[in-house]
Amino acid sequence: MGVAADSETPPVLVASNRGPVSYTLAEDGTLTARRGGGGMVSGLSALGDAAGTWVCAALGPGDREAVSRAGGATLDPADTGGRPVRMLDIPPDIFDAAYNGIANSVLWFVHHLLYQTPLEPVYDAEFERQWAGYTTYNTAFADALAAEAAPGAEVLVQDYHLSLVPALLRERRPDLRIGHFSHTPWAPPDLYRVLPDAIARQVLLGILGADRAAFLTRRWAGAFADCCAELLGAEVREAAPGGPDAFTVTYEGRTTRLGVHGLGADGAFLRERAHRPDVDERLAALREQVGERATIVRVDRTELSKNIVRGLLAYRRLLTERPEWRGRVVHVAFAYPSRQDLAVYRDYTAEVSRVAEGINAEFGQDGWTPVVLHVKDDFARSLAAYRMADVALVNPIRDGMNLVAKEIPLISERGCALVLSREAGAAAELGDDALLVNPYDIAGTAEALHRALTMDADERRSRAGRLAKAATALTPRDWFLTQVEALRTT
Ligand code: G6P
Repeated sequence: MGVAADSETPPVLVASNRGPVSYTLAEDGTLTARRGGGGMVSGLSALGDAAGTWVCAALGPGDREAVSRAGGATLDPADTGGRPVRMLDIPPDIFDAAYNGIANSVLWFVHHLLYQTPLEPVYDAEFERQWAGYTTYNTAFADALAAEAAPGAEVLVQDYHLSLVPALLRERRPDLRIGHFSHTPWAPPDLYRVLPDAIARQVLLGILGADRAAFLTRRWAGAFADCCAELLGAEVREAAPGGPDAFTVTYEGRTTRLGVHGLGADGAFLRERAHRPDVDERLAALREQVGERATIVRVDRTELSKNIVRGLLAYRRLLTERPEWRGRVVHVAFAYPSRQDLAVYRDYTAEVSRVAEGINAEFGQDGWTPVVLHVKDDFARSLAAYRMADVALVNPIRDGMNLVAKEIPLISERGCALVLSREAGAAAELGDDALLVNPYDIAGTAEALHRALTMDADERRSRAGRLAKAATALTPRDWFLTQVEALRTT
């Protein structure tokens, strides 16, 4: 598999809200660059010469300062591994309306089926202001990409932050080949139509401005196609088998192809990274705490869709219903802060700590802490936890893919068993060897944890081997390159 970096073709542009680098500004004015994480960033790092400019947003004061020091040019190549990165300094109130407002409080919750509780749809003047901000922010990206792209270049636009960009860019530059990728699930029509009609249509039409729109699983691509059929009256067809596409959507004479690219884990990078001294050090510290006990590991952003509280309650139920596990198991739960500008995330973060402390107060004994909760982001410590996992718990209410489900079985030294929500995109690829659970079913999840802990060692190892293989079927690099290749055959 693979697309050669062809010197004849112009490089591929990328656009995403979060870029490959972010900056912190110290009080003395020093700027420190940190490489962004995630599969998308590592996939693009492997692109070399085929990678063109990456357009992203300045997320905070450090980023804004870096943009201002770059004086309108791309960022200092020393900070970006040599890749040209153009950060857009979008006015803070517009950024806030687009990112915290429409993207993270509306579209994210719609697609994760959480847009009823705890966040209720309220379409008031504030919502209208946020929608105007979202439109301005998307327009800024379209303008920047239109100015940056060489004639006939490919542009890959990422995610729900930028759903209006494909159509806006097509108006400005009909010569470009435009792809859009959704890293989230897509809501089925009955839930998607909770959005005001005009906005629901604009989001669909924005993405249909692409030549090809891609998703992590066929289920999400199908839901998008269903929304286009029901809300727009578009014509949806299944694409020819054996080709790169899943569906086509035709609306007002234009056809958009829908593809599926199931992003995998970066096995080579993770295996190497997981054995560096900083990880060894943290592993030793965790082992000290956990001893020889069985270990259930979870690592997430503290995110409502990740369902961390129900995961803890399932662990509590395991200790209640199966007292034989008391003193013999530890739940290592890492829940890293995310989107803390939003009250609903801050409340959830507090609840996670409260529930974990409650379990420790109820069951803890001298020498045994049932839940080891860490909330400070530390990648090396996450990898250390991966290495010691006997069981991985990944129970999102709904998730585009969930890379942690792929990473833990790959890195665990114990051949770990995977308890996985059937509503994670990863279940489509890992379902045969994971123990699938209904994420709302706390008793069922507790029972799956028990089964995972008692699984015969040989069975666990052979399942873990197959999980690791499935997890790396489409490396981040090939995930990206197969999209470029499919776009070039438009
Ligand atoms: C999800 C989205 C990504 C986003 C990530 C982190 O995975 O699909 O686009 O980058 O969450 O969210 P944040 O709001 O911190 O960028």
